[in-house]
Amino acid sequence: MNSDSDLQIAGDILAVQHLLQPAREHPATVAEFVGLARSLAEDRAQWEHLVRYDATTRWYHRLRTGPGYEVWLLSWVPGQGSGRHDHGPSSGVLTVLDGELTEHSARGPLTLRAGAQRVFAPGYAHDVVNDSLDGAVSLHVYFPGLTEMPMHHCTPAEGAAHRESVGVPAA
Ligand SMILES: [Fe+2]
Repeated sequence: MNSDSDLQIAGDILAVQHLLQPAREHPATVAEFVGLARSLAEDRAQWEHLVRYDATTRWYHRLRTGPGYEVWLLSWVPGQGSGRHDHGPSSGVLTVLDGELTEHSARGPLTLRAGAQRVFAPGYAHDVVNDSLDGAVSLHVYFPGLTEMPMHHCTPAEGAAHRESVGVPAA
């Protein structure tokens, strides 16, 4: 038997580490971005101590950046909402870390509890609001990183509020 045959090498892949693809340092596919969000959600030490609640303005914190993506941490006091917006050319993964959020989109309202994940493509529009009586925390992965977040203004009053938040992650 020829011990150098490809078949034999392929039969024991762990014996030939040099043939394995190295693990990617950064996520690059939708599945990998979802996986990144899920692993961060489960590793509370990565974000729990950073969370602040601010009743006067939306609180957000850029948790991580990498080539072609950004990860943001957001908090929501009861009643706070993003306003209706899309994400420009970015796709995203929204993961609820704590509490409960309600997402309003063309398909109607959707209650998102801790652990829930939503994946959206460029151009997807939604309004995220904390309709509960407790604070909520969410994690947002955008790929590519967020360059714009066009607000879909409804009334002049809402438009003024939205303009203040343009340039920061609404949701
Ligand atoms: Fe959003």
